[in-house]
Amino acid sequence: MAKEYILPDQRQAGKRSRNAAENISVSFSALSQEIGFDKKYFIRTYGCQANVRDGETISGMMELMGFERCEDARSADVLIFNTCAIRRAAEEHVLGEIGSLKRFRQQHPESVICICGCMAQEEAVVKEVLTRYPQVDMIFGTHNIERLPELLQQAMKHEGKVVEVLSHEGRIVEDMPVKRSSSCKGFVNIMFGCNKFCTYCIVPYTRGKERSRQKEAILREIRSLQASGRKEVILLGQNVNAYGRDLGMDNGFAELLQDCAETGIERIRFYTSHPRDYTSETIDVMKKYPNIMNSLHLPVQSGSDAVLKKMNRGYTAEHFLSLVSDMRSRIPDITFTTDLIVGFPTETDADFQKTLDLVDQCRFDLAYSFVFSPRSGTPAARMEDIAPLSVKKERLQILNERLSMHASENNKAYKGEVLKVLCEGPSKKNPDVFSGYSEENKLVNFTCGHDCTDTILDVEITETHSFSLDGKAL
Ligand code: SAH
Ligand code: SF4
Ligand code: F3S
Repeated sequence: MAKEYILPDQRQAGKRSRNAAENISVSFSALSQEIGFDKKYFIRTYGCQANVRDGETISGMMELMGFERCEDARSADVLIFNTCAIRRAAEEHVLGEIGSLKRFRQQHPESVICICGCMAQEEAVVKEVLTRYPQVDMIFGTHNIERLPELLQQAMKHEGKVVEVLSHEGRIVEDMPVKRSSSCKGFVNIMFGCNKFCTYCIVPYTRGKERSRQKEAILREIRSLQASGRKEVILLGQNVNAYGRDLGMDNGFAELLQDCAETGIERIRFYTSHPRDYTSETIDVMKKYPNIMNSLHLPVQSGSDAVLKKMNRGYTAEHFLSLVSDMRSRIPDITFTTDLIVGFPTETDADFQKTLDLVDQCRFDLAYSFVFSPRSGTPAARMEDIAPLSVKKERLQILNERLSMHASENNKAYKGEVLKVLCEGPSKKNPDVFSGYSEENKLVNFTCGHDCTDTILDVEITETHSFSLDGKAL
């Protein structure tokens, strides 16, 4: 008999207690290679780097079970969609892809189609999938990834759908296997979840409460990346500046960053910083250690104080501007990237103009800009929406032109400069051209006489564009 479904509960997911997060360690040594013998799996991950890191854990488990990865969904025995819920467009993309697999699933009755990640944590989405997408065999969430081997074995019996999504605040699960997607860099979670509850955002409901990993576990993971020859670590958290608060630390992130830098790994980056919690001590540490890259992703979302307030961001445009100018004065070569939302329900033309003004003052190196997407169960989805979609799209276009102008202007300054680039491999379009990122986090496409994948090398910049630089290795 099929087991009962365990479905997500969004109201429960938004609750927060003061309890410390439970740390557990899981052992995968007993996993049988027979489950996946002669079988292939396909995984597609959407969304942020935290989700990419989860996808690497899922791949790690699949390969321990003996599955071999394949890049073509229709050649796979197990198809995993590790999804993102941040905007409706992202969800529709996944649902479209799963919709197109209906015939495939009918023709391959032994195959298993699986949805996990943030969409699986949404009550409305899971209901939609269960009623409209009979081809989906299995759904599990972000809080019980370690249950994959057991759930998959059940699903492979085809005795009914397997649905297990938990809506508690979340635990910390250590010692899970990992199959890294990059050979030159590695993602390291420093904390999970989010307690900020920005009014437009679904993440606090899909990822649970803010909880920090023990520092030793983080440093162990960095050392193992270093031992494997990787040159860069990317520390991950929805709001890394809050690291350690739940462990009773006052300046946890600055201290952690210092310890990470002391490991001697060549490059350290971190995503995402929240403007509200950024401390002067963090800037001191960035300044002190050359292996902490001088590029900062600092999402501002809007330049209007009225909108920022309605978003529950907890800072003003003036605070953001002073943070940026303080950092620029202390770390002159720092580069800034950001995220922006246009068309928030209460945003007027005057509010939007303030966003443009802020963008002109900050001259970001790169920005991710989005039209507001109402997320079911969040406060902003219930606010009265004052602008039609056509106006929002027009604002997005105006904003993007402005962003691209500043990005292009900033990049011009690099012409003739020599930048240190960590090469990620040959470019997809041309095998003679390599690509990688400079210390400033600029995407650089460059020529090189030998295969320089996974090494850091000097590249002279010969041409500049809005979102990339061209060069030649010296
Ligand atoms: N934790 C990060 C952001 C994570 S989500 C932070 O606080 O900065 C990544 C970006 O998606 C956000 O910065 C925001 O710009 C965008 N985003 C989140 N929810 C959205 C929504 N409902 N509609 C449109 N964009 C959204
Ligand atoms: Fe979402 Fe705000 Fe948390 Fe970022 S800080 S994940 S935008 S709620
Ligand atoms: Fe998307 Fe979830 Fe990340 S909603 S942005 S995958 S935390």
